[in-house]
Amino acid sequence: MGRTVALHLIVGVLAVLSLFLVNAEDPYLYYTWTVTYGTVSPLGVPQQVILINGQFPGPKLEVVTNNNIILNLINKLDEPFLLTWNGIKQRKNSWQDGVLGTNCPIPPNSNFTFKFQAKDQIGTYTYFPSTLMHRAAGGFGALNIYHRSVIPIPYPAPDDDFTLLIGDWFKSSHKTLQHILDSGRSLPFPDGVLVNGQTTTTFGGDKGKIYMFRISNVGFSTSLNFRIQDHTMKLVEVEGSHVMQNEYDSLDVHVGQSVAVLVTLNQAPKDYYIVASTRFTRRVLTATAILHYTNSHTLVSGPPPAAPATAYHWSMQQARTYRWNLTANAARPNPQGSFHYGMITPTGRIIFENSAPLINGKQRYAVNGVSHVSPDTPLKLADYFNIPGVYSLNSIQTVPSGATATVGTSVIPCSLHDFIEIVFQNNEMTMQSWHLDGYDFWVLGYGRGQWSEAKRRTYNLVDAFTRHTVQVYPNSWTAIYASLDNQGMWNLRSAKWERQYLGQQLYLRVWTPTKSLANEYDIPSNVLLCGKAAKLHP
Ligand SMILES: *[C@@H]1O[C@H](CO)[C@@H](O)[C@H](O)[C@H]1NC(C)=O
Ligand SMILES: *[C@@H]1O[C@H](CO)[C@@H](O)[C@H](O)[C@H]1NC(C)=O
Repeated sequence: MGRTVALHLIVGVLAVLSLFLVNAEDPYLYYTWTVTYGTVSPLGVPQQVILINGQFPGPKLEVVTNNNIILNLINKLDEPFLLTWNGIKQRKNSWQDGVLGTNCPIPPNSNFTFKFQAKDQIGTYTYFPSTLMHRAAGGFGALNIYHRSVIPIPYPAPDDDFTLLIGDWFKSSHKTLQHILDSGRSLPFPDGVLVNGQTTTTFGGDKGKIYMFRISNVGFSTSLNFRIQDHTMKLVEVEGSHVMQNEYDSLDVHVGQSVAVLVTLNQAPKDYYIVASTRFTRRVLTATAILHYTNSHTLVSGPPPAAPATAYHWSMQQARTYRWNLTANAARPNPQGSFHYGMITPTGRIIFENSAPLINGKQRYAVNGVSHVSPDTPLKLADYFNIPGVYSLNSIQTVPSGATATVGTSVIPCSLHDFIEIVFQNNEMTMQSWHLDGYDFWVLGYGRGQWSEAKRRTYNLVDAFTRHTVQVYPNSWTAIYASLDNQGMWNLRSAKWERQYLGQQLYLRVWTPTKSLANEYDIPSNVLLCGKAAKLHP
């Protein structure tokens, strides 16, 4: 038997085996989630919040790599509602992304069943409302994807696993905040910081044991510094990437981002502060939780530990220490394979510049001079039904235009399998955070000032890691590579929700002229229709 024949035989057997494994090992998980208003007092005053199945924050979604999730979402609010699954790649399936460019919002007293798979993903993610200002009222939660038993993770299994949703918070209702933005003003400074919807909460453990802390910034606008008194944190996972396991005293977690760390309880058995405090803000808001050793009789005392004094420089330096562990498994063994991002010549480059213009006297936020408005007809449905007049493919330039900002519907045409370099240029004095749906992307580098081609020399083309949300420092740039191998209509947005709401977002239309189920799933049979698609049939 020749070598190639043998190889074919092995590949064939593996293919049959993997087909069998997929069928045998990809269970379906069924959920029914009902969304209602409720009243809680996270900052001491009663306020209206959004509950999912009576919970604030929403239920923790805990699944295993490749699980299929069938989740019936019932909207009992007085406004249309959607959830988006932050960091779930929705392979071939932007139908389930849960943003206004892909889905009709679920009308009040109505429901929609999301159907998606946690395909080839592992790690710490979140979900949150993508409609209006609902996110300011709750409706968010953790989405943890655990490894399949057949694939070892590059760290010891922790003794317990804690989820910490940290974020800035307003006492005002989401409707009041929306009214402020609709009337052309920007939001006030937040009123506090919450950890899992509270200002005080306790995490308990035994001396000598190792605990995982999954930390996500689910807030509105503020980067947070996270630290645990007298304990170091070993960083093990960032948005699905197993990174080099460095030890940190504190970590900056920007809006929309997630990290997972291991903490060894190796100190005297007492109580210790867990701290999340606002970063780069004149006034610092702090939330403290408690790390309680079993049998501790010593309460915390004195001031909680402070954040590092130098803010931006320190933070950028820390960001550069996050490196991919090239030998570690992810959801699959050897996730990189023979494909190495650093060896590929990009097929194109896009530069996105954020701005905060006044348009018709009202505060808006824009990308390359266009402030996005979502049409009543989801872009994805306009594509599917060939509905004209919803959007155009030359609505936004791929480099900053310098022109006066306008309001429009921003869609950038891309070809399936493009491999693009994206530069986020931030010429504002504030921190930015950018998220791309449908993908994770390589973070190549950060730098001060204006990006130029010469900055490519500073890119990390060896061991950059992939994530779904990246920060951009004030008067600085961040560069990424994105491999556009996932057909669909994908939202690129500011993770700072005020900016997203007032237009700092756009869509990448990743497209190929040949229609094939191998590239993209068909329209779901339960699709909601609205706008110009309301009277059509899938
Ligand atoms: C709404 O829920 C029902 C079951 O209660 C389900 O049969 C139906 O498909 C759901 N609607 C959508 C649009 O998913
Ligand atoms: C990288 O991953 C390997 C393989 O799982 C693991 O043994 C090693 O400790 C990791 N290295 C670092 C520095 O995290």
